[in-house]
Amino acid sequence: MRVIGLGLLGLGNVGAGVVKLLADNAAAIEARLGARVEVRRIAVQQAEKRRLVEVDKKLVTTRARDVIDDPSVDVVIELIGGTEPAREYVLGAIAKGKHVVTANKALLAYHGDELLAACAENNVEIYYEASVGGGIPLIRALREGLASDRIDEVIGIVNGTSNFILTQMTEQGRDFNEVLAEAQKAGYAEADPTLDVGGGDAAHKLAVLAALCFGTKIDFTKVFFEGIDKLTQRDFAYAERFGYTIKLLAIGKDHGDSIELRVHPTMVPKRWLLASVGGVFNAVYVNSQALGQSMYYGRGAGMMPTAVAVVSDVIEIARTLLAGAPGTRASVPRAKRPERRIRDIGELESRYYLRFGVEDRPGVLAQLAGILGDHDISIAEVVQEGRRDPQRPASVVIVTHRARESNVQAALAAIGKLPAASEPTQLVRIYETRP
Ligand code: HSE
Repeated sequence: MRVIGLGLLGLGNVGAGVVKLLADNAAAIEARLGARVEVRRIAVQQAEKRRLVEVDKKLVTTRARDVIDDPSVDVVIELIGGTEPAREYVLGAIAKGKHVVTANKALLAYHGDELLAACAENNVEIYYEASVGGGIPLIRALREGLASDRIDEVIGIVNGTSNFILTQMTEQGRDFNEVLAEAQKAGYAEADPTLDVGGGDAAHKLAVLAALCFGTKIDFTKVFFEGIDKLTQRDFAYAERFGYTIKLLAIGKDHGDSIELRVHPTMVPKRWLLASVGGVFNAVYVNSQALGQSMYYGRGAGMMPTAVAVVSDVIEIARTLLAGAPGTRASVPRAKRPERRIRDIGELESRYYLRFGVEDRPGVLAQLAGILGDHDISIAEVVQEGRRDPQRPASVVIVTHRARESNVQAALAAIGKLPAASEPTQLVRIYETRP
């Protein structure tokens, strides 16, 4: 029986899951493939560290090159994360004619084009199902299931840590820092929590999705992102009052001549499907021209869900290797289209929730309304909290009709200079769903 040799770079949470899944499902995988899949080499940083799974010590090395150069390794699985040295290792493996499976969204967001070009040159594939949505077979659905369609919008809840925190803040009225600590303990959070709660991780994932869905190069530095770390319980209370739920959305839209890419906390109507995606779950909602709306839901993080995506990629590569086929060109975008401009956030047209902290005295509301009006921003709703404590600023909340972001930012800068302005203004964009 033929054996497909695997080399692992990294044996953390996901690496251990891969080893476990290959062992637990060995018979089923063998039956499906007509071949065995075997881990032949594992590179780790510290050889003596305690692991979540037992592995043969002879397989373990502290040098990535031992894995990349091993002639018995057909597929290199990169699970170390971060851009360097992951990029160097992956390029090294590709140059050696090895296929690559990676869960590394940061690497793909920054260097995806370079890696795809190297793959094409060396006639190998890079698979990355685990990089977005963990165990959800999402990349496969977008790449194969929708291969015949044109996608014009992709909206995801793609950071489980943020979604868990937002869900707890919404349902339990809990404090941001307390819930973050809990998420970190549960093992969902990135090593650097600012990547999760600052929106960077979701932005990396959006770049991966957009390149695939819209068939274009993405310059990651142009992806706008904001995190959930400035939201307060007051914003959740107002969201509830206006019939919204707050979600960290990664939004990608193909406008034909340009592409809109943004990640930020968003007020979404409570009745919308994405509003009910709670806890650590992820979901990606897609609008494509022929199919219309579709949604993909499941566990976006964790040891075994992520391992499922990695091992399924390995199986797909193994099929190609066993067939002796030249490769499926799966990593190439579905339909290559011309490179398009990524829109600046200032060009966005949206409705906005604005919460002002101002002194409670005559004429202040008129000043706010005047400045908004001067910037072509029309008010849809206003709520002012009664004065409870004369020492503290009053909260004035304004929900706008559709307005241009550059106008909103200019208005907020002007409002910030008013003598009555006592706190920085809170801004949350509102997503209007299709009927
Ligand atoms: N830290 C990520 C999340 C999981 O919280 O969703 C890995 O992509």
